[in-house]
Amino acid sequence: MISVCFVCLGNICRSPTAEGVFRRLVSDAGLTDKINIDSAGTGDYHVGESPDARSRSAASRRGYQLTGVARQFQAGDLDTFDYVLAADRSNLQALRRLCSDEQKLRKIHLLRSFDPIAPQDAEVPDPYYGGAAGFDEVIDICERACRGLLEQIRASGRL
Ligand code: 4NP
Repeated sequence: MISVCFVCLGNICRSPTAEGVFRRLVSDAGLTDKINIDSAGTGDYHVGESPDARSRSAASRRGYQLTGVARQFQAGDLDTFDYVLAADRSNLQALRRLCSDEQKLRKIHLLRSFDPIAPQDAEVPDPYYGGAAGFDEVIDICERACRGLLEQIRASGRL
């Protein structure tokens, strides 16, 4: 079993979107029993909340259902997960600060490092304070990056 955790700041917009998109890709590939999928936030502001209504409606228009309630990422999660995917550089730094173990640090990546058309160090832009188009853009990015991530997991031979 490979375990994947998507991480943003609040765990109500970007990471639940990535989780929903990846769940469907994995399910369509018949790999549900082989890949465990979760998401979390580096912050605790929205713990216990459902995904943001704007994320849910943008996702639902594209055929994705966003589930789960927000939780904060814990240092111990770095023992559990094989891939920890940060939405932006600030989340990446926050995750790295939780951990000094070289082997665990190698589990942490920017999600867009798997997006084939993203430049180096590209981020998933935070849609929270913007308009509806930002939520659609997050889905476009998650679709590309999650496809790339699944290819990488397959290529790793760990499934
Ligand atoms: P997320 O979006 O990190 O993609 O879940 C945000 C949610 C809440 C806040 C910022 C970003 N906030 O400042 O409360």
